[in-house]
Amino acid sequence: MADHSSVFPRNFRKDYPVAVRGEGCWIISADGRRFLDAAGQAAVINIGHGVAEIGRAMAEQSTQLAFAHTSQFHSAPAEKLAARLLQLAPPNFHNGGRVYFTSGGSEATETAIKLARQFHLETDQPQRYGVISRRQSYHGSTLGAMSVSGNLARRAPYQPLVPEWGHVAPCFPYHSATDLQDQAYGLACANDLEKVLHGPSGPSSAAFIFEPVVGATLGAAVPSDSYVARIAEICRENKILLIADEIMSGMGRTGKPFSIQYWNVEPDLILVGKGIASGYAPLGAVLVSARVAQAFERGSGAFHHGFTYQAHPVSTTAGNAVLDYLAAHQLFEHVNAISKTLRADLAPLLAHPHVGDIRGLGLLIGVEFVKDKKSREPFPLEQNIAERIRQATLDENVLTYPAQGCVDGLRGDHILLAPPFILSAEESARIAAALQSALVRVFPG
Ligand SMILES: Cc1ncc(COP(=O)(O)O)c(C=O)c1O
Repeated sequence: MADHSSVFPRNFRKDYPVAVRGEGCWIISADGRRFLDAAGQAAVINIGHGVAEIGRAMAEQSTQLAFAHTSQFHSAPAEKLAARLLQLAPPNFHNGGRVYFTSGGSEATETAIKLARQFHLETDQPQRYGVISRRQSYHGSTLGAMSVSGNLARRAPYQPLVPEWGHVAPCFPYHSATDLQDQAYGLACANDLEKVLHGPSGPSSAAFIFEPVVGATLGAAVPSDSYVARIAEICRENKILLIADEIMSGMGRTGKPFSIQYWNVEPDLILVGKGIASGYAPLGAVLVSARVAQAFERGSGAFHHGFTYQAHPVSTTAGNAVLDYLAAHQLFEHVNAISKTLRADLAPLLAHPHVGDIRGLGLLIGVEFVKDKKSREPFPLEQNIAERIRQATLDENVLTYPAQGCVDGLRGDHILLAPPFILSAEESARIAAALQSALVRVFPG
């Protein structure tokens, strides 16, 4: 770590180049090096870096009105963005839905946990407060968000600080421990939620939160088709809210506005962050379905929650400008086309004895590395394979997102690819080539 830095780093043992410019799918550092951003930083950069019109819209808004506190005012950009997000959402958000804006994903998760709790107070079920989640999941780094996260490594140091409301099985077909076929496996995973709800914590449960397509922790794991519909049914039958965390998978990353739309399910709350403003401003949101919003409206009328910077006029202006850009360049459609190109470019990697799986939806793609392809046995944790692949692709000037723990929370190595939607065919080929050469270097001979 450079000893002249005053910024508290993520890791004191690491050197961080200074990023000075972004152009499309590329980030340029102070020493002139150009990096191809194959992970969109962390699935954030949807429209690409350096789009001047986003910056211009934000500058214009900040000269007119940079800030107005939401206890006193609403603002036009927040109103406009809320209406547009609700239109993109499933039908139960259309007439009477609302949007609660935050400054990022973790705040959206916190907000959802409190919305779920207060919803039950508003609807005469005061015994309900716990939010059930899944193992191998991530919903944010604040304490409430960590309590529903299942990512063991990120949770471990803070274990004494976080309440436990119950974690159920993920739906992760590649590492299914059973002989069940795909659809039966999906139902069995979903029924794990029912088991918990029929147990001692059932009556106090307020909601179930999940990533429809699990981003960082499982490396873009897509559930079996039977899974999501059954989860929704169980939530309905047991009178708990269904929260779809689309902070990574939403805003077009999988080729639809929200990944849950692949299964035609209507959750009660949808969380977004990351790509909503494509990195141009810190922004997140909770989309609140009409049924939940009306419970507050008809009930006490006030949500006991708030952040100074919620619904920030400049951040929501960035969100509107990003949506304009997505529409003008038909980028949701481009995700579907270019993701096919990227998957085709990556497919030859599967011939390698240590590439176990390539999975995902749209431009949220995971590549998993296994010790033994037949048994799908992972590498020992200490071999640090995902990090070594990241380093080797970085040597090729390609940025990827490494993670460990997909198999059991600790073991299992994968990298996540989540490039900007504007990815070109040439850039796609370059990502695949960097991974090919990383494999040669990490697994010589
Ligand atoms: C699925 C999911 N939920 C929540 C979060 C937390 O978002 P943030 O880092 O913006 O607080 C993340 C971040 O990686 C995420 O991937």
